[in-house]
Amino acid sequence: MTIDYVMKPIVQIDNMVKDFPTGDGSFRALDDVSVEINQGEMVAIMGPSGSGKSTLMTLIGLLDSATSGSYTLDGEVVSNLSRFEQARVRNRKLGFVFQNFNLLPRLTALQNVELPLVYGRVDWRERRERARAALTSVGLGHKVDSLPTTLSGGQKQRVAIARAIVHNPAIILADEPTGALDTRTGNEIMALFRELNREQGRTIILVTHDPEIGRQMDRVIGLRDGCLAENILGDYYGVQPITPIEPLAVIEPLRERELVPVPLRRAS
Ligand SMILES: Nc1ncnc2c1ncn2[C@@H]1O[C@H](COP(=O)(O)OP(=O)(O)OP(=O)(O)O)[C@@H](O)[C@H]1O
Ligand SMILES: [Mg+2]
Repeated sequence: MTIDYVMKPIVQIDNMVKDFPTGDGSFRALDDVSVEINQGEMVAIMGPSGSGKSTLMTLIGLLDSATSGSYTLDGEVVSNLSRFEQARVRNRKLGFVFQNFNLLPRLTALQNVELPLVYGRVDWRERRERARAALTSVGLGHKVDSLPTTLSGGQKQRVAIARAIVHNPAIILADEPTGALDTRTGNEIMALFRELNREQGRTIILVTHDPEIGRQMDRVIGLRDGCLAENILGDYYGVQPITPIEPLAVIEPLRERELVPVPLRRAS
């Protein structure tokens, strides 16, 4: 029996160019990059420092606009929307995780996680409940009232991940999410990302310099000098991918699969 699997592209970037103005002209940080990422994939963007990884993430995250090229996100052409409309799409569909956590120091873990819902105008009771559920799902149900300064690096990153998923985004974007963590804590955070990918069906796009992380991804998108580079894992990092577990997009035909919201469980 043949099964007609549907790979649904959730990110589709065509011929993207990004020029930054410089003193004497401009610098081309991305040069005609075309990338497709399917719903349910977990991919890494890798390449040497300065190759354009963060620039590409910023464009995928609708945090900046390209010089030219088109971008279709979840079936909607977003490259020619206004900045205002792009912000609306961003708040609905994307969750962000950063290397240095970016938590607000005077807010508790729970209040930090509630933030995306404050902007989303969710009623405070539901806000609190969903933030608790998100913290519980990253294993921090017991730290809701803690201030960031009292948490370890790994715990801070878990709070940041809870904040990234609390509004149930289809895609999580993470720029070097383990860059500030020791290897063991980094591995725990990667296991958490894999769980969010598998159990909640979220598409995950992350930047990493760590070949051990890269080889565990469903796929690696390589960049060099602003251009796509084939086989970056082997050619630049000297490692081979671990025989990939089938990407979620292949295991389950996605037309039958809905994105699973963060389960509403009360913190124990
Ligand atoms: N705002 C900017 N103005 C001018 N040049 C920029 C700007 N942002 C990035 N660049 C340049 O674009 C290139 C790509 O930068 P980018 O930050 O995307 O690299 P990266 O691959 O993320 O590097 P790293 O691994 O060091 O984080 C670099 O040469 C950088 O100097
Ligand atoms: Mg970078």
